[in-house]
Amino acid sequence: MSASDQENVRFSKGLEGIVAAESSVGYVDGLAGKLVYRGYDVNTLVENCDYEEVSYLLLNGELPNREQYKDYSSSLRKKRQLDNDTLNLIRDLKDTHPMSALRTVISFIGARDNRSIEPDLETQKSISIDLIAKIPSVVAAINRAHNSKEFISPDDDLPFSSNFFYQALGRRPDKDEAKMIDEALILHADHGMNASTFTSMVVISTLSDMYSAVTAAISSLKGPLHGGANERALALIQRVGKPENAEKVISNMIASKEKIMGFGHRVYKVYDPRAKILKKFVETVTKKNGQENLFLTAEKIENIMAQTLGSKGIFPNVDFYSGLLYYSVGFDPSIFTPIFAVGRISGWTARSLEYLSDNKIFRPRGMYVGNRGPKEFIPIDDRQ
Ligand code: ACO
Repeated sequence: MSASDQENVRFSKGLEGIVAAESSVGYVDGLAGKLVYRGYDVNTLVENCDYEEVSYLLLNGELPNREQYKDYSSSLRKKRQLDNDTLNLIRDLKDTHPMSALRTVISFIGARDNRSIEPDLETQKSISIDLIAKIPSVVAAINRAHNSKEFISPDDDLPFSSNFFYQALGRRPDKDEAKMIDEALILHADHGMNASTFTSMVVISTLSDMYSAVTAAISSLKGPLHGGANERALALIQRVGKPENAEKVISNMIASKEKIMGFGHRVYKVYDPRAKILKKFVETVTKKNGQENLFLTAEKIENIMAQTLGSKGIFPNVDFYSGLLYYSVGFDPSIFTPIFAVGRISGWTARSLEYLSDNKIFRPRGMYVGNRGPKEFIPIDDRQ
């Protein structure tokens, strides 16, 4: 790029404020604190639908009627079971971080699927449905292996989220837990052009395949500034330990310019609507399980953050309460981010398919800020 080439380009660090694609999958209103999937407010969806309906909505644009729901649900159930090679790989990876294991296993499943090299929409949609069905079983098996427990086969009588809970924890959820895990997965299903979704779209835009797009998205979700924040948010709540300690710990962190995990968001400058819904569950579940102290500590951290950084638009994001919620029903912290992927798989695939249907390879420009030269060339033996 020449100097004159660069005169009219706008640089925005982290692509902040840059519109990179059109989409009708979902919408985040960061100032009103609203999250919309295909026109429906997420609050309406969590109150009235289950994850399978929402997944269908994201992929197809409309909520399913009774028959479509039955077909979609039964096709997901048929594809849940993992083969022995995949389970053996998961066993071999039992000591790696579950997000690294998840990335490797999805890539492995893709490498053995001959369809994956076909870039046409229909094939990629069919792979998407396979992935939506299989990711919960993969994450559940990773959790079992990581904790040196036996794998559990899917229960065909259980819907998507309850079956995931069962395969991961080895017990069927009670009514409250079933509602909690289903709502949590719905709330994670899509969220605009976040880093992992954008990653999956960049990969699919090269006419690669859905396995590659999702493998890359998992790699992107892993980072502590994105999906990895939930594990660290819980660690902070546990470190603070009780409400009385919160003031000192949080003030010291803010004074030393440390980021408080589970707070702040590129788009939301008000309370993240997902955190609001999850917080209610956390209060109920921790009370029931005798862990209310953790909830009260989290709430105290939230209040201190609101007083100190609320004026900057920094409030709890989805990761602040999700980790505490999963922990309080028995999930290991290392599995929190993979659970995020179990929900987000519908958004990744829906947006990648949407992009593929009117594809243009992503290719932004970089702003060259180096020496424009020409520098004098010095032969290698004469260099200092
Ligand atoms: N704790 C303390 N200060 C914060 C926090 C935080 N969690 N988040 C932002 N700030 C401050 C920054 O220090 C910065 O202050 P300054 O203006 O004095 O320099 C200002 O707010 C703007 O912050 P940026 O990091 O520039 O905002 P950006 O939009 O780039 O980042 C992000 C958003 C990455 C989410 C950030 O808020 C953060 O690091 N949060 C903690 C990690 C986290 O919870 N991630 C999960 C996000 S939700 C998700 O991905 C599912």
